[in-house]
Amino acid sequence: MNLKQLAAEKAVEYVKDGMRIGLGTGSTAYWAIKKLGERVKEGLSVQAVATSKASEKLALEQGIPLIPFDRIDGLDLTIDGADELDRGLHLIKGGGGALLREKIVAYHSKELIIIADESKLVDKLGSFPLPVEIVPFANEWTMASLQEMGAKPMLRTEDEHIYVTDNGNYIADCRFGVIENPKELHQTLLALPGVVDNGLFLGLAARAVIGHSDGTVTVIE
Ligand code: A5P
Repeated sequence: MNLKQLAAEKAVEYVKDGMRIGLGTGSTAYWAIKKLGERVKEGLSVQAVATSKASEKLALEQGIPLIPFDRIDGLDLTIDGADELDRGLHLIKGGGGALLREKIVAYHSKELIIIADESKLVDKLGSFPLPVEIVPFANEWTMASLQEMGAKPMLRTEDEHIYVTDNGNYIADCRFGVIENPKELHQTLLALPGVVDNGLFLGLAARAVIGHSDGTVTVIE
């Protein structure tokens, strides 16, 4: 059984006719976009924005009507995956590199639903390295500052080249160990010049739909 698909398809049930939808990024959001495409083919009317070029391409292939950001005044619902989440709906996102667009879209949505298989649910965040989006200019200095914070940062690479986000930035994957105070860490990172944003999503998710290996789906609210 595909637990990501299970969670994603359940979450798409929350989509109602006429809604403006934010489309997430990643291997779980993939299933939500596929299911939404099926519902659109059956007659559901929605407008959507995508959080990455990959999700935009997939949505177009599925026949989901996409609208430019500047033509839309807020969203009703965004469905997106996460790399880690706790029961307080604090999240780490950005494993797929789309964290900045994902956070902007989530912020401007009335509701964010997170979809995940049960392996993503943790007691405390921090096993998954926190993605921090940094500007390329003087990235060595920003990386050094992250190191001084105890982050053990690794500049993300892809095919032996530095990974570049859809926004033209770099990602530093940071190991802070167990994150006891996500809010404080979030603020500290945002205060560091050169940091654009980070993968901590706090106070944004309204619910999480979790797929379990016994075939059940639970909802955390
Ligand atoms: C993309 O930048 C990420 O935030 C993804 O939403 C997150 O990494 C979850 O991805 P998977 O669903 O592929 O695990």
